[in-house]
Amino acid sequence: MKFTVPLAMVFGVLIAGCSNDSTKKDNRVDQLLSQMTLEEKVGQLNQYAVGPELTGPGEKTGQTKIRYDQLMSGQVGSVLNVLGAKNGREMQQQVVENTRLGIPLVFGYDVIHGYKTIFPIPLGESSSWDLGLMEATARVAAVETSAAGVQWTFAPMMDVGRDPRWGRVMEGAGEDTYLGAEIAKARVKGFQGGDLSSTNTIAACAKHFAGYGFSESGKDYNNVYIGQHMLLNTVIPPFKASAEVGVATFMNSFNDIDGIPSTANPYLLRDLLKGDWKYDGMVVSDWNSVGELIPHGVARSKYEAARMAINAGSDMDMEGAAFVENLKQLVEKGEVSMNVLDDAVRRVLTLKQRLGLLDDPYKYFDEAREAEQMMKKEHLDLARDAARKSIVLLKNEGNLLPLKANRIAVIGPLAKDKDTPIGNWRAAAEPNSAVSLFEGLTEGMPDVNFSYAEGCKLSIGPNNFVNELQIENSDRSGFAEAIRVARGAEVVIMNLGEPAYMSGEARSRSDIGLPGLQLELLKEIYKVNKNIVLVMMNGRPLTIEWEAENIPAIVEAWHLGSMAGHAIADVLSGRYNPSGKLTMSFPRSVGQIPVYYNHKMSGRPSTGPNMVFYTHHMDVDRGPRYPFGYGLSYSTFSYSPVVLSDSVKANGKSITAKVTVTNNSAVDGEEVVQLYIRDVVGSITRPVMELKGFQKTMISAGESKEFTFEITDELLSFYRLDFSFGTEPGDFEVFVGSSSANLQSARFTLK
Ligand code: NOJ
Repeated sequence: MKFTVPLAMVFGVLIAGCSNDSTKKDNRVDQLLSQMTLEEKVGQLNQYAVGPELTGPGEKTGQTKIRYDQLMSGQVGSVLNVLGAKNGREMQQQVVENTRLGIPLVFGYDVIHGYKTIFPIPLGESSSWDLGLMEATARVAAVETSAAGVQWTFAPMMDVGRDPRWGRVMEGAGEDTYLGAEIAKARVKGFQGGDLSSTNTIAACAKHFAGYGFSESGKDYNNVYIGQHMLLNTVIPPFKASAEVGVATFMNSFNDIDGIPSTANPYLLRDLLKGDWKYDGMVVSDWNSVGELIPHGVARSKYEAARMAINAGSDMDMEGAAFVENLKQLVEKGEVSMNVLDDAVRRVLTLKQRLGLLDDPYKYFDEAREAEQMMKKEHLDLARDAARKSIVLLKNEGNLLPLKANRIAVIGPLAKDKDTPIGNWRAAAEPNSAVSLFEGLTEGMPDVNFSYAEGCKLSIGPNNFVNELQIENSDRSGFAEAIRVARGAEVVIMNLGEPAYMSGEARSRSDIGLPGLQLELLKEIYKVNKNIVLVMMNGRPLTIEWEAENIPAIVEAWHLGSMAGHAIADVLSGRYNPSGKLTMSFPRSVGQIPVYYNHKMSGRPSTGPNMVFYTHHMDVDRGPRYPFGYGLSYSTFSYSPVVLSDSVKANGKSITAKVTVTNNSAVDGEEVVQLYIRDVVGSITRPVMELKGFQKTMISAGESKEFTFEITDELLSFYRLDFSFGTEPGDFEVFVGSSSANLQSARFTLK
């Protein structure tokens, strides 16, 4: 119980007169800083994981390297993976009561799509194109997380993802920069709410800064080669948008870009983030990404790595112990200036102050609140709504859906699986806690006669600690029963896909078809009953050429979270009319990757078949199987031509694009009306089109609605040849439609 009195004095005196005055609050951080020894300052920049290595590689013992002697001596500023109000309080108390200044810890955790109540994986949820929904699910995640004593999530991930081999596309918002930025802002607002110091909000983290989604061949942690214009125009905007809405923290990415690891990249961190954008939040490294400067081959030792990372602008060292072991010496030797050190410490203390931890280190540790908040009915209701809004109807030949049959077979290794729908990065979810598809169907459609067969097994021992996920490839013993069940049914629902841990961090794949024996099983069933609804659960776009050609109805159901089965049953039964649209293209083959809608023209664009010396693959159709923005509904919509308010736009003035959308069906339905723009000639090559707006609205059966989009200079601006940001005069094409491949167009000139 050392120094509890000085702590009380420091905080007590300071709290008294200044709780709502930001200048005085900053003074409080400064005052604390002025009392700290060099060791104590270094300690604030050190973060350890506690417990088994849930979220990264650790020592062979299965335990991470947290040093309790350091924890008790002010050498640790933050911990991750400590869960529960009781555990958090105990650890906080040890630190507050045993360290000289009693500076509280900040507790972090990867809350990616819910804490106990699990929402759809972020890629799935992005398919809802519903920003309010995404803000709401992040809000509920924050309520549960903060009640469990955690104040900081390492989310949202805002890496633009164009390579479905990369397992982490499940954590992002897909392939588009504009949509990615809008979603990033919504999620940050949801986590952080209006007041970070409130006990039911948490600090968000813009990650991974930057370029991580462009790892060569989609192999996680691999090197990245992207040019400066691409970095600025494609990768950076979601991060910049998040900084603008006040995201509390940033995280480095593991990768290098053209030879410079992000953790030691002064251009990214000092010039752009903390310079141009004047970002005053804190930058945490990724898991040992400071130490990984050694295998990257840019540092000889942790000493050098620490010097490079902090001088470049990384503030906190996650799990690497490079800062805590070396910064004191680096400062004493003048290799890191006291200013640089103080700036980093000030950012960490400011985070703690914003969270209210300097006022009350224990404010987040309330066991009664924790017990009351988890998986409340309204949280689960929101999870169900989010899940059904995330479903994308990919194919519905002959209106097989919504289901009309009375004898339905449900076949597949995922149909009764209560764990896979929770997906990877499941925070504190109970294993096997999702509503399975079979449960959802039988509960939601009690008048239908459902039969079931597993058909084949999918994985053996899937969990986060198994290095190579083993997929069952030889046991066909369940085929005969599945065929028998299919024969006796009017319609067969096949539930196939990827197990939870086949996507996510370190889960890159070189073949992204349905794993194991599933496609073989599907073909066998197809031989006896062609009325198949394929319900896919997966964490990335898959290659499904045979399926898309042959199976009449295909439903993309991702890993939809706690209420998955109910949500899918809502869609299959017609209780909910699907409205999701893909945010990442489905390739036809792995060789086609990356395939994304907003590519450049090239000097030899292919405009049709039978061309030779043009950009194309000679053995595969040019476009993806299912494009960005695509998704069907039980309603059918038609679009009028686009009408612009003017064919000339003056600089500084805006024009509008209008379109009328009619629901020609007898069913009310929601449509996502999408606006794309093409800059025809630029100082650098420009994408064939870029999403620049969207509106999601319910249109009643038979109703027509007019949609208006405002085209501003901001929408037309980009980082130009000289890297300045702005517009360029010339011709623009405007496209409005129901997907990136189904558009009406018009043209205007920017003067
Ligand atoms: C490594 C991951 O790359 C990062 O996203 C995550 O936040 C950390 N581990 C902490 O678990």
